[in-house]
Amino acid sequence: MTDIITHPLAIDGKDPRNTRGDRISQDRYYSREWMQREWDHMWTRVWHIAGRENQLPDPGDYIVHDFMHESVIIARQADGSLKGFYNACGHRAQKLVHTNGSQDSWTCPYHGWEWSTDGSLLDACDRDDFPQGDPVGKIRLIDVRVDTWGGFVWYTMDDKAPPLLKYLEPLPEVYKNFPFETMVRVRWVRVEIPCNWKFSSDNFNESYHTRTAHPQVPPIIDQDHFTSRFEMFPMGHARIIQMGRPSLRDRVPEDQPHPFDDTLRAWEIDPASYATYEDKAMQGWLDLKAAKRRLGPQRGYRHFDQLTDEELTESPFGVLFPNIAFGAGAEGMSFFRWEPHRDDPEKCYFDLWELAFPIDGQYRARLTEFAVEMKEADYDFRIYSGPEAVADLHDQVVFQDWALAPGQQAGWRSRGYQEPYLAAQETRVRRFHEVLNDYLDGKPPGW
Ligand code: FES
Ligand SMILES: [Fe+2]
Repeated sequence: MTDIITHPLAIDGKDPRNTRGDRISQDRYYSREWMQREWDHMWTRVWHIAGRENQLPDPGDYIVHDFMHESVIIARQADGSLKGFYNACGHRAQKLVHTNGSQDSWTCPYHGWEWSTDGSLLDACDRDDFPQGDPVGKIRLIDVRVDTWGGFVWYTMDDKAPPLLKYLEPLPEVYKNFPFETMVRVRWVRVEIPCNWKFSSDNFNESYHTRTAHPQVPPIIDQDHFTSRFEMFPMGHARIIQMGRPSLRDRVPEDQPHPFDDTLRAWEIDPASYATYEDKAMQGWLDLKAAKRRLGPQRGYRHFDQLTDEELTESPFGVLFPNIAFGAGAEGMSFFRWEPHRDDPEKCYFDLWELAFPIDGQYRARLTEFAVEMKEADYDFRIYSGPEAVADLHDQVVFQDWALAPGQQAGWRSRGYQEPYLAAQETRVRRFHEVLNDYLDGKPPGW
């Protein structure tokens, strides 16, 4: 059997008794008042991801993160540390920079004040014309707190927010065997979607929809709720761990090629060596662990030596409150993040990043049909006007989720909306809304 990794902070994410039973009110999906409350009480408090650390290798490198109407700059300092600032000039608030870049200093495009990337003012026009005193040495950009974990650059606008590692608790410990900081972002897509951002929070907090929406997945990942493990954590995060083998109840017809056969063959296992389907699913899964253990390091996956048997094959899917999900597998990570539109509660942005562990040459991304070149991807922005706008991403599981988003938004606006009638395996959905309610009521966990 596979070894089971549970964390002492995990509570059963499939037991509705671990929620209060707060109602999931309808207006949260479209009202501007809700949107404003989320900004006031949640987005200005949580830790956000601005980008990847390897976007800023050298002093002077900086990245810009625009979030709703706010914008933040994170810059690499001469001593190697990172500092972050609101992207607003200290003179009269002009936005300083609009895109990522690398400069020794930032010169404001309005009146030319020159800012060091450490936030101090280097020079200004007519410095002797300020009766209140020379601004140099006096005025600074306003700081935001910055930290890193997993190769991601994080910041928070809240001086009182818990430290990043506490905020993420216990995921850094749960994923300690994975060298995420070494990963290469081989796909970097942002899609504007016509729905409230919480569509994705709800969607990633349950796998109940996958059998209907993603029928291609159960033959390679066992998405049965009775074989999966559901976890919820005190800070609002959650996980589901699904077995990296076919579901026994979603078998493809005997005369059709089984997608798990490709996985087995990729690791030098003959699918014909199993007498029955059950045998292939269950014994094949164990054989796959052994094959990955044996062959992984010589194929360039050096970190396989650190991974447990569970981590070699299973499909753990973590949802970081409020707006990040990631599937961390042995060969790579699918990373998803969704953010609200700046002023329309019925639109959001969906980020799709594929991260790969650096091995030589080409690699094949998880759950995709195509080999992807092992190099940092360029930024690719789309507007979802229909599946044709993202047709080239049809191999991504989230392609099918996006197709559901407009219809979900329509239902949230309907007079036919009812309190959701949740399955036990959807417990994390209610839990998400309860943590959201706690933030909006001024009682975020851990503050
Ligand atoms: S607003 Fe930046 S120099 Fe005036
Ligand atoms: Fe989905």
